[in-house]
Amino acid sequence: MTELTQAATGSAAQADGKGGHPLWSSRLAFILAASGSAVGLGNIWKFPYITGENGGGAFVLVYLLCIALIGIPIMVAEVMIGRRGGASPINSMRKLASRDNLSRRWIWIGGMGMVASFLILSFYSVIGGWALSYVGNSAGGLFVGSSSDEIGALFGNLLSDPYTLLLWHSVFMVLVIMIVARGVSSGMEKAINILMPVLFVLLLVMVGYAMSTDSFGAGFEFLFSPDFSKLTTEGVLTALGHAFFTLSLGMGVMMAYGSYLPKNVSIVKTAVTVSVVDTAVALLAGLAIFPLVFANGMEAGAGPGLIFQTLPIAFGQMSGGVVFGTLFFVLLVVAAVTSAISLLEPVVEWFEEQKGISRLTGAFIGGGSIWALGILTILSLNVWSDFAPLGMFERFEGKTIFDLLDYVTANLMMPLGGLFIALFVGWFMSKPSAENELSFGSVFAFNCFMFILRYITPAAVLVVFVYNLL
Ligand code: PHE
Repeated sequence: MTELTQAATGSAAQADGKGGHPLWSSRLAFILAASGSAVGLGNIWKFPYITGENGGGAFVLVYLLCIALIGIPIMVAEVMIGRRGGASPINSMRKLASRDNLSRRWIWIGGMGMVASFLILSFYSVIGGWALSYVGNSAGGLFVGSSSDEIGALFGNLLSDPYTLLLWHSVFMVLVIMIVARGVSSGMEKAINILMPVLFVLLLVMVGYAMSTDSFGAGFEFLFSPDFSKLTTEGVLTALGHAFFTLSLGMGVMMAYGSYLPKNVSIVKTAVTVSVVDTAVALLAGLAIFPLVFANGMEAGAGPGLIFQTLPIAFGQMSGGVVFGTLFFVLLVVAAVTSAISLLEPVVEWFEEQKGISRLTGAFIGGGSIWALGILTILSLNVWSDFAPLGMFERFEGKTIFDLLDYVTANLMMPLGGLFIALFVGWFMSKPSAENELSFGSVFAFNCFMFILRYITPAAVLVVFVYNLL
């Protein structure tokens, strides 16, 4: 049993009497925890900016297709492996593989996921640091009465200052390390259960504000009216990668959470709910941001700073903006922390399992190394902003170390992990096992699901990969 997930379940977990592996008290507890991992910077920071960079509607459509045809089936497969194995991702894979006399190499899915967690958290924490620093900016009234140029300059100054970035990256990382080292307390879990819905409501308020501008129609159209001439093959890969990133898939996170899911809960219904919540948050963020982009004559493809350069304009103008703005960035930090916890867990767990290191020490060594790696991302934003280590390849031209970390994890490692998970469940794991676990109640529904997992999902991932290589 993994201490990590056990800790993460906190009060929601209870012993099931069989070997003491604790289970989620309810389907809702699982949904909240899995949504806590899924909903984060990916939805509010990354989704709007990559949508802006990739021309809007057509990209959003491909992203939604990837969620439905690839994301949801893989989430089901991951949760199912976790529940069947009832252990940490590596051990669940080991158990299931040996039960069906398969190669031990399947445990590499868990291994690759751990490396991906390590790399992702190194830059995730830097962006979490941006959000932290914006809590102070908002509370200090810095947005009030500021023009979009002044707000742009505020963000520019943050990026150009490695020491400030390092400070906030460190604060974010210490926060995450402390929580993971102690295990998530039930008090904190309860707090999250309240804060997440508040974030949702606040996004609705922001969408309401966007509706009051005369550019809501333009923003809406940008998001939902597809113009395929703006879509590149690279954009399709980005959409695919983002479907994995935003749902925390392809690296064992959902496997770890699934190992605590009670037998009588429907995995399919649960996976669909988590995906719908996650997608709704992303689309709301887009609806809040793009009208502001157009209302203020800004560039939709402004890049990673998009939300930090648009939302503060709204907070600076609306009544109660200081309160709303501060609350918004606090909640963004909370959402980022709950995702970051699920990224540090596998690393700490590995230290415990492989090296026999205590949870506390593991959290500090793992978190400390991730913190150090984060310095590369910080420098990519200023001192090394012109340094493209793989610039000799056309595809990676102009990509900084930060860009490469993001590219390699989201566009390569996660889809690859997901591909193998789909292949494992679709082709290798015994069919009765899967049938028993999913309990569709209808042979037809089960066969449809298996068809998607066997053919559609792997083919889609492969086609996008191959297209991009050519
Ligand atoms: N899904 C998280 C987000 O969208 C990021 C994440 C990726 C978390 C992978 C865990 C694992 O912000």
